[in-house]
Amino acid sequence: MPLKSRACIRRKRATDSVAIHCNDIIRGCFAKGGLFFSIFSLHDMTVQFPSKFFLAPMAEISTPALRRLISDFGDHAVYHSEMLSASALLSGGFHDETMTARYDFDRHLVYQIAGNDPAIMAEACRRLADRGPFGININMSCPVSRIVKKGWGAALLNDIQRAAAIVRACRAATGFPLSVKVRSGFENDDLKRMLECASMLCDEGIDYIILHPRCAKIYYSRTAKWQLVKELKQFVRIPVIGNGDIVSAESARQRMTETGCDGIMIGRGAVQTPWIFAACEEYFTHGKYDITVNIRDCFLAGIDYIERYLPVHLHKSRAHRFCMYFSKNVFHSHSLFTDVRNADCLAAIREIVASYFRRNPHEEIKRFAE
Ligand SMILES: Cc1cc2nc3c(=O)[nH]c(=O)nc-3n(C[C@H](O)[C@H](O)[C@H](O)COP(=O)(O)O)c2cc1C
Repeated sequence: MPLKSRACIRRKRATDSVAIHCNDIIRGCFAKGGLFFSIFSLHDMTVQFPSKFFLAPMAEISTPALRRLISDFGDHAVYHSEMLSASALLSGGFHDETMTARYDFDRHLVYQIAGNDPAIMAEACRRLADRGPFGININMSCPVSRIVKKGWGAALLNDIQRAAAIVRACRAATGFPLSVKVRSGFENDDLKRMLECASMLCDEGIDYIILHPRCAKIYYSRTAKWQLVKELKQFVRIPVIGNGDIVSAESARQRMTETGCDGIMIGRGAVQTPWIFAACEEYFTHGKYDITVNIRDCFLAGIDYIERYLPVHLHKSRAHRFCMYFSKNVFHSHSLFTDVRNADCLAAIREIVASYFRRNPHEEIKRFAE
């Protein structure tokens, strides 16, 4: 069957169905002991997003601490957890407690899982369902060699049959919105293979695709090729979320207009400017935005949340990660971050930040407007 027609089958299923908020229904079903699962095929419904904006899954960054900081500016995004190893999840311990914790500010949280064993991935979906997420995302985009060597992440782009088996198993295991995050290729951007992969994902019944339009080999270098998001959007009939290099509400709107994609995922830009989703919401609704931020307070709050939501052994590394991006809000970012990197506890990091603003009080308040 030609690619296009297979992708269209999915559309027919989706548009035939009633557009209902899957999550609410699924929660209702769980509340009733899952009684309705035998009657309805829930995943045939069109997914309804609570927002057009998505926080990207970022290992060691998309923690509850960052999610809390973002939600201080309002409830404007669907959050993705950092990548969870499906096998580690099943063995319990660290993964269970820290990385899957869901808080009241995580109203719409998608757990991202990684692995390459269909049965383990499916079981991870079942376990995560107990946390009441908005959805589950399968990682087919991570280019890091220790992940790829195990056949996880972007390696699945080179093993479509296994990728299909994983999606099939996860689809059978969960009625929650199921999505896959892909790159535009492994060695190179490869439109044909990307569309073949998308067609397979549609056939296996995923609810939406997230595309980071860079091939895995280049990690995060060069600029994301948003033209590929447009090509994908025109090809599939399920929602497409575009991701890559969005740093402002203006760039989010420009990319959405150019490509027709259904949502925008933001990663690094959301660590540097956690208010970006609030700005996007205002801009998309009113055509302008005007947000004043106390950079010092936001900086210190980010560090406080690391202390509050993460275990002690992660404080230093996660604070360094956060500060690496957030420091870019100040003029002497390089020297500030160098000092932070040499600090080995949160109290020392807090003092470095506070002292920076004592020396540079004019940098405390910033206005972001368009
Ligand atoms: C430090 C870091 C960690 C990341 N970890 C993950 C991950 O665990 N899973 C994933 O799918 N993508 C991961 N990504 C990729 C992001 O989700 C996103 O695709 C990429 O950063 C491009 O979006 P951006 O330009 O908005 O940052 C990571 C990116 C960074 C910078």
